[in-house]
Amino acid sequence: MNITSIIEKKKDKKNLSEDEIIYAVNAYVMGLISDAQMSALLMAICINGMNLEETYFLTKAMIESGNVIDLSNIPGIKVDKHSTGGVGDKTTLIVAPIVCSCGVSVAKLSGRGLGHTGGTIDKLESIKGFKSDLSEEEFIKQVKEIGIVDAQQTKQIVPADKKIYALRDVTGTTRSVPLIASSIMSKKIAAGADKIVLDVKTGSGALITDFEESVELAKTMVFLGKKFNKETIALITDMNEPLGNSIGNALEVKEAIKTLEGNGEERLTELCLTIASYMISLGKQISFEEAKKQAQEAYTSKKALEKFKEFIKYQGGNIEDIKTSKNFYDIHSNYDGYIRDIDETVLAMECLKMGSGRINKEDKINYGVGIVIKKHIGNYVSKGDILATIYYDDKKPDNKNIINSFMLSEKKEKGFPLIYTVIK
Ligand code: URA
Repeated sequence: MNITSIIEKKKDKKNLSEDEIIYAVNAYVMGLISDAQMSALLMAICINGMNLEETYFLTKAMIESGNVIDLSNIPGIKVDKHSTGGVGDKTTLIVAPIVCSCGVSVAKLSGRGLGHTGGTIDKLESIKGFKSDLSEEEFIKQVKEIGIVDAQQTKQIVPADKKIYALRDVTGTTRSVPLIASSIMSKKIAAGADKIVLDVKTGSGALITDFEESVELAKTMVFLGKKFNKETIALITDMNEPLGNSIGNALEVKEAIKTLEGNGEERLTELCLTIASYMISLGKQISFEEAKKQAQEAYTSKKALEKFKEFIKYQGGNIEDIKTSKNFYDIHSNYDGYIRDIDETVLAMECLKMGSGRINKEDKINYGVGIVIKKHIGNYVSKGDILATIYYDDKKPDNKNIINSFMLSEKKEKGFPLIYTVIK
């Protein structure tokens, strides 16, 4: 087989066969085709797309590039969740302990930050001592013993995605439904859970901003789940403002703890309880309404908070040692008015500049920096009110960008719904 003819075929809008897709994936993992050739193929896929069958072949080839974790020895239905990435998205930290404390095991592999969006592993590593690089044996042992684990992808799990993702990140090929769907679903299926709940973000701060395209992404991933016999539910949720109040690793972990203590921001809490309810409903095969009652009880009784503490301790983390930056200052509003929009991508980029994520692959993260927003869409602000608090160390953000990211209007406008639709 010849990679040039495969690239040309996709460039000419033709469908690739399973053999061609397997060849391209395996040859790239083995170093037989170059980054330049793979980039050309990825760009052709970005521009001309893939049908559902091709996307399935791509996902399958990626899964088969590595190991699949076998959780079949662990009793009960194991459920996993994944978000397509957002700003201030700390839902996993809250949802996983709620679900686990209702008796459903959560076996999860999480990622690091991508572009302007944060990653759960970076957030967890802001807790002193937390170990995210577990072996497959440790991963399985932890699910067996405490019912909850969150670790980074190992070298043996979907190595094709690791290599292809790094290339997509630097070749402008991240925003593509078949590439995102195969990347996420290959990792979910290889991680071994029986059922999957997906949080597909839509809006200005999401990887896919367009609503119709977000629906297509959700439908594609639900289709892939079914093809691999994993019941999958996708929620399409809003990413037109930061989720919750904080952006930045340690700040987000602290907000997750505050939420589990019962003092969470309204939209964040509601989204977490809804995602948890879908996971419990799948894991226990009960109605969504019954699952919601159980999720609420685990949350209100603080059983979920205790589970979170147990999970962090088991992975070596010290919950008393989560450091946010000592230096901080407030950003004040220059005008009166209702907040009609918040540009969360600008806020996230300012956090990145302060060191909350990586601009280059080798960058070291400053876990303590970030932004805590004090106002949300629909809130009224008077001139002089605090819009946000900045936590910084050696690099300060551009205050003008932060002020301008809060857009005001005279009239209160309808905000964005939290959950647009659910695709099963
Ligand atoms: N998350 C992933 O794991 N892969 C993508 O392509 C996008 C988000």
